Amino acid sequence: MTNEQYGFETRQVHAGEIIDAEASARITPIYQTAGYQFDSFEDGVERFAGRSTRRAYSRNDNPTNVVAARRLADLEGGTDAVLVASGQAAIAAALFALASAGDHILTTKKLYEGTREMFRGALVRQGLSFEAIDESATVDEWLARVRPNTKAIYTESIPNPLGEVVDLKKLAEVADRAGIPLVVDNTVATPYLQRPFEFGAHIVIHSTSKWLAGHGAVIGGAIVDGGRFDWAAHADRFPQLTQPGSRGEQSFTDRYGSGAYGAYLRSVIVLEYGPTVPPTSTFLLLHGIETLSLRMERHVQNAQRIAEALEGHPALTAVHYPGLAGSPYRALSDKYLPDGAGSIISIDLAGGREAARTFVDSLELVSHMTHIGDVRTLAIHTGSTIHAKLTEPERLDLGITPGLVRLSIGIERADDLIRDLTRALDATL
Ligand SMILES: Cc1ncc(COP(=O)(O)O)c(C=O)c1O
Repeated sequence: MTNEQYGFETRQVHAGEIIDAEASARITPIYQTAGYQFDSFEDGVERFAGRSTRRAYSRNDNPTNVVAARRLADLEGGTDAVLVASGQAAIAAALFALASAGDHILTTKKLYEGTREMFRGALVRQGLSFEAIDESATVDEWLARVRPNTKAIYTESIPNPLGEVVDLKKLAEVADRAGIPLVVDNTVATPYLQRPFEFGAHIVIHSTSKWLAGHGAVIGGAIVDGGRFDWAAHADRFPQLTQPGSRGEQSFTDRYGSGAYGAYLRSVIVLEYGPTVPPTSTFLLLHGIETLSLRMERHVQNAQRIAEALEGHPALTAVHYPGLAGSPYRALSDKYLPDGAGSIISIDLAGGREAARTFVDSLELVSHMTHIGDVRTLAIHTGSTIHAKLTEPERLDLGITPGLVRLSIGIERADDLIRDLTRALDATL
């Protein structure tokens, strides 16, 4: 099954599928097994050495997970994908495969706070350094910050929570000129709304917990390789992929060519660190992906209608949604997200934190919780929760004002949501 042959809606149902040989089960079964019985002594030797196509152990190789990984790679237009236990695990694994202690990573300034926290805390303690650059910087300004030890540019296609659509072509130009991969967290857009590889990205990350699984039931993550980065051409920067192993084993680029990164992720990073996702979670993810296009159509229609309906409400000083005609990101949204600007809306309440308290406590239909990409509509005051650890000046620098509430718009009837949101806003006046 190839991209040229079938459309997205067909591939989200079928790409990568296997028909179970024993039972002919039509949908991908949950292969709930830790390991796989070897046929013989020699078979075990071959599987361990990676010379057999048959499996050795579920930590990094489980058939249910492999089907979902192949499907996601197909939908993103990549060549390989690896599933892991959460979006956070996907980000950590993707970067561990690229960088080690002493290395430097450039990022855009506006990122999901969990990611920023990992970059500022846990990964700094592992010896990595991160430098955040404003999205609006020019190609030359970005290039001026690239150092010999810079190993990646990291960004989000639609940053959570303010939706400042990122100019991926610009960042891809920087990455290509600098000889480093562009890593894009595409969680909020999903491959239905945007495929970053088409704009020059090299690696795509997903929290599959969000719109891909879609029903708020599972946590998972994925790393997708675009297969386009020429690792061998930048051999000194990525010795883990291009140099022979410590016992003289062939390098990953010699063994796997343009697939070296995916192979290294799977057979070193995931095997050694073990951030394995359970196949039961992946079973639910596969069910979610089968209806992705249908849900995304409704998510973005609802978000556009609701953003327009809330704009101008007297309780609000701002509605942040890149699909709004007056959004400073509307031009980028038209260019990169022609099928819809995602379904995160952030609203800024004029009455600040106290108004936000009244607002969330007045909601009846909308769920007050942290999470995004659910079929249900969700709301959260980010300053007192997700961004609570930051100082007030740090929050303001990121655009997290005291009255900011993030909405993740679900697939319910838009009129019902508008009524609930408007009533809760009225209560703050
Ligand atoms: C954009 C983005 N990336 C990554 C993550 C982390 O994903 P997970 O919660 O699956 O670890 C989140 C979580 O909200 C997110 O919003």
